[in-house]
Amino acid sequence: MDTANPDIAALIGRLRETLGPAGVLTDPADLAPCETDWRGLYHGRTPALLRPASTAEVAAAMRLCAAAGVAVVPQGGNTSMVGGAVPDESGRQVVLSLARLERVRAVDAVDLTLTVEAGATLRAAQDAAADAGCLLPLSIGSEGSARVGGILATNAGGNNTLRYGNARDLVLGLEVVLADGTVWDGLRRLRKDNTGYCLRQLFVGSEGTLGIITAAVLKLVPRPATRCVAFAALASAAATLDLLARLQRHDAAALAAYEYMARAGLDLVFTHIPGAVRPLATPAGHYVLIDLATPRPDADLRGGLETVLAEAMEAGIVLDAAIAESGAQEAALWKLREEHTEAQKRAGASVKNDVSVPVSLVAELLARGTAACEALLPGIRVVPFGHVGDGNIHFNLLQPEGMDPAAFLAMDHAIMDAVCDVVRELGGSFSAEHGIGRLKPYLMPAWRGGAELAMMRAIKAALDPRGLLNPGKLLPAAEPDVVGPTVASG
Ligand code: FAD
Ligand code: MLT
Ligand code: ZN
Repeated sequence: MDTANPDIAALIGRLRETLGPAGVLTDPADLAPCETDWRGLYHGRTPALLRPASTAEVAAAMRLCAAAGVAVVPQGGNTSMVGGAVPDESGRQVVLSLARLERVRAVDAVDLTLTVEAGATLRAAQDAAADAGCLLPLSIGSEGSARVGGILATNAGGNNTLRYGNARDLVLGLEVVLADGTVWDGLRRLRKDNTGYCLRQLFVGSEGTLGIITAAVLKLVPRPATRCVAFAALASAAATLDLLARLQRHDAAALAAYEYMARAGLDLVFTHIPGAVRPLATPAGHYVLIDLATPRPDADLRGGLETVLAEAMEAGIVLDAAIAESGAQEAALWKLREEHTEAQKRAGASVKNDVSVPVSLVAELLARGTAACEALLPGIRVVPFGHVGDGNIHFNLLQPEGMDPAAFLAMDHAIMDAVCDVVRELGGSFSAEHGIGRLKPYLMPAWRGGAELAMMRAIKAALDPRGLLNPGKLLPAAEPDVVGPTVASG
């Protein structure tokens, strides 16, 4: 990519003419928040933060940057867990924020679709759906900050994947600005449309490396009329899977979320999060949050859940359980789950492993992953939690009490490799929902090498031949070109 000597000052001048003064920020104080990722792993530098106010302005900005050969880092809420949305340290990549594209363009309760711009927060999109008597069935802990474009660019998972799939499963249409500034309007609300390659699915999960998502058509479902949330203490990790099977046999369609927590993570929440309340007196090593929901107003979710829990207690699977009696109690139980990430951040340095295995192998992952980490670093604190119904465990680790955080983080690759070795043996994935970003491209050759990586590079070369979109993310640096025999000219 030829940005060796871009006249960035002149480019910024042209961008200001196009986007207006509010659309181009260069003051270091304005730039700082967009240069460091949520976890504080990366501290990049950018000459400018672009804040276009429309798709047309995104396209114009992209054209100007492309003409100057300057790379663009798309940014939504900057809540990426893998450093995907921040510039590198070169000072030659501009950040393009979608935050000002936050309109809800349409909600259709018959189509069950929401047409929304990329800068809308997930929460705002959820609220727009609720106002129309529908539900946008995608919920993640960062939904107050994460924005629709970032949610789609990372194919976010979250708490309802078990019932409704990932972000990818909720996309019917996209509007995208390509690397040369072309606007693709694929905002179709069709449930069926079999006309060639499924282009929208190329951009979902592409992490800003193939195009800039400016709007989307998302699937909605009827809003639940009945809900029942419970918290259970389990006899073992294997019991977590046994209870899941019982709930699915009882009424899989009503099981909207099933989230695992270990005692270690809950203890961090009770220590670091004010207002967190212990729902059960029974001490246990393993807990789950159960969330049942249905649009049927007459459904006896509570009665059914009580039956399943009673039978599971009888079988020694469940040690204790509490069912929320109010919306406030439901929120309090969810807080215990959702505050894991923040509690961990406050507790110290964390090495995160957002991994997945076949659901039936989760207990084995927990046991073998814990053993591998404790063998590598005695005293390491193992804090597994997450979307067990999808086989997705956030196998996160905290430094041993008293260890220097920097020394612990210096072991991150060794720790990630130890966990990944177990995950690979169990036929799992090294990145279940957070994507690759800047943190994990080094793992791609070993996990997705050969034909897969070659196809990804071919797609990247086709859609962003000059490598202007989010360079250094998702794809590892190309292997050094093997210099073939020089062909004698003439
Ligand atoms: P950003 O961080 O701004 O960007 C993410 C990536 O997408 C970057 O590569 C960026 O360049 C690209 N991008 C952003 N906007 C666009 C666009 N419009 N077009 C093209 N590319 C774009 N993730 C989960 O999957 N499940 C969870 O349960 C979950 N829980 C979380 C809890 C907390 C407390 C936090 C802090 C994060 C959590 N995350 C989770 C991770 C993160 O929130 C998600 O990856 C989210 O989808 C990122 O959205 P964002 O708008 O912040 O994107
Ligand atoms: C979550 O599900 O809370 C996050 O994806 C996990 C994490 O913060 O590691
Ligand atoms: Zn998660």
